[in-house]
Order: sequence, then C-alpha cells, then structure tokens
Amino acid sequence: MRIIGIETSCDETGIAVYDEQQGLLSHVLYSQVKLHADYGGVVPELASRDHVRKIVPLIKQALSQANSTLNDIDGVAYTKGPGLIGALLVGACVGRSLAYAWGKPAVGVHHMEGHLLAPMLEDDAPEFPFVALLVSGGHSMLVKVDGIGQYEVLGESVDDAAGEAFDKTAKLMGLDYPGGPRLAKLAAKGFDAGYHFPRPMTDRPGLDFSFSGLKTFAANTIAAEPDDEQTRANIARAFEEAVVDTLAIKCKRALKQTGYKRLVIAGGVSANTRLRESLADMMHKLGGKVYYPRGEFCTDNGAMIAYAGMQRLKAGQVEDLAVKGQPRWPL
Ligand code: KG4
Ligand code: ZN
Repeated sequence: MRIIGIETSCDETGIAVYDEQQGLLSHVLYSQVKLHADYGGVVPELASRDHVRKIVPLIKQALSQANSTLNDIDGVAYTKGPGLIGALLVGACVGRSLAYAWGKPAVGVHHMEGHLLAPMLEDDAPEFPFVALLVSGGHSMLVKVDGIGQYEVLGESVDDAAGEAFDKTAKLMGLDYPGGPRLAKLAAKGFDAGYHFPRPMTDRPGLDFSFSGLKTFAANTIAAEPDDEQTRANIARAFEEAVVDTLAIKCKRALKQTGYKRLVIAGGVSANTRLRESLADMMHKLGGKVYYPRGEFCTDNGAMIAYAGMQRLKAGQVEDLAVKGQPRWPL
C-alpha cells in the first residue's frame, strides 16, 4: 500500500509519500514562518491563502521525488482536524478531490494522532503499549496508547499548551515568532541564577497541566530584573527548567499509573533538547526507554499524516465524498 499524506492544519504545508514495504519515499515541507513573523503569530486567512498557493506544486514534487505517479498511489490521507478551519479545508478539498479524480479512497486524519505515531517513522520505533506525551503549540496531553486507535487521554492542559507557553514567554522576552526554539537557544546560554519558577499542578494528584501561570511568573520576573542579555538567558533557563520538570513529573506519574515502560514524546516541543535529556535520564532510572521522532518530524509534517492515514485505511476507515474539516476534535 502506498499513500500520499497532506498536512495543512496550521502554518506548514507538508506532503509525503509513504509505502508500506519501503517506508517513507519522499517528504516535502513549506513553512510559512516568514509570512507570519511580522504579525507575531499565525494569521489564519494568510495561512489558508498560502496553502492554496503551495499545495499543488508540493504534491507534484513529493510524487516525483518518490518516483511515483497517481497509478502507484493507493489512497490519499489529509489532516481533517483539529486546526485552523480555512487551512484544514485547503488540504481536505485538494486531498478529497484528488482521491475522487484518481478513483482512490480518501481518509481524514486526526492531527494529534499523526504526531503520536510520528516515532513509528524511525528505525527504532516503539512497540505498543506506551504512554505518549504530546506537546505542541495547540495541545499538551498524556495519552495511554494500546494500539492504533486505542487511545485514552490521561491528562491535558487546562489552559495554555506547552508550546504556547514557550511562544508567549518568548514574546515577552522580545524574541521573534516562533519563539519556542528561540527561547530554548537563549536558555542554553543561561546559568542558574536562583530564579525558582513554580511547577504548576504537581502538588496535587492528577495528570492535567496548566502553563499559563508560568508565563505570568516570567512576565513579573522580567519586569523586576535588569534588561540585559545574560539576565534574560537566566530567566529563559529557569522557565524552560520549570516546563521540563513539570512535564517529567507528570510523565512519571502516568507511567506509574499504567505500569508501562515505554514513553513516546512527540509534537513541536519534543524537539526541545532539555526535555529529551531530562526524560531520557528519567527513563534510564526507571528501567524504561523514551522514543521520539527525528527533529523535522517533531513539528508539523506530511510524513506523519501519510503514516497515520495508511494505518486508518488498513483498518477500513474511509471518508465519504463530502469535504470536511473539523477545527475541534477530541483525540
Ligand atoms: O507540533 P507543532 O509544529 O504545531 C502544532 O501542532 O501546534 O508545534 C509547534 C510548537 C510551537 O509552539 C513551537 O514554539 C514549539 O512547538 N517548539 C519548541 C521547540 N521547537 C518547537 N518549543 C520548545 N523548544 C523547542 N526546541
Ligand atoms: Zn502539530
């Protein structure tokens, strides 16, 4: 089975071709980061228009890099939600129409299932069952994963997502959009200057997260301290440590609750080096193992959608002829 995957839920147009036997044959990505940078965040209408401009040339490019024609493709997978509705509809419209024109089945994929299964694209893929920590710009959740489609959300953010907290705090520090990776880079230059950020919701039972207080704590700390590069780096470091620590505490709890020994981290924030180091260290001590996608598949991409779509098609899931996007969609 060979599937083309289309991702357009936010500000990246990602297209990939995945083959069941040969693995990933091609993946291309166009990021709109520069387009939105002047606005300090994603402007939905501009995102939709840019997807319209890029999607067809990228599909052609992905097919050609995979040495595939439409005759080799057995199905079309596209991100159906959650995400920005205009952006989703571009991928859904093109994906659904191509499948119809080619006489192939179409399947709408849950964006977070795509992230969750992204580590399966690696040589060292995790086996089921595992606990997944999904941390992106829009979501933070802990999921008990027993197989494809067998997901139980154990906890999620009651306010800002982890990536959102990184982005908002970065903005407070005067860093450009997207702030998460920039804040992480600044934090690497910081040292322990005694700032102690809270570890939200770790003092009570449960697996939910709350990150909006960290952003407020950062704002107050920035306002009270001198405005120089080293001080900002020290504050960035303390902020990052607080997010990483909080995530690690909750992961440990989820592993204890489920009895599982495998931890998967995925979504944009899983690219964070400190988070990877901290969780690797923790899993080593617990006698388990942590799995994550390569850097480029932590953030949004078409490869994870092609892979998840293939699994769903194999399980018999197909879309009817309606073009549907689902901006809100629980996992
Ligand atoms: O998964 P993703 O590409 O998009 C969503 O589905 O939201 O995640 C993007 C998020 C952004 O908030 C970005 O700042 C964050 O992931 N991010 C990072 C790092 N790289 C990306 N946050 C912290 N450290 C990083 N290295
Ligand atoms: Zn995402």
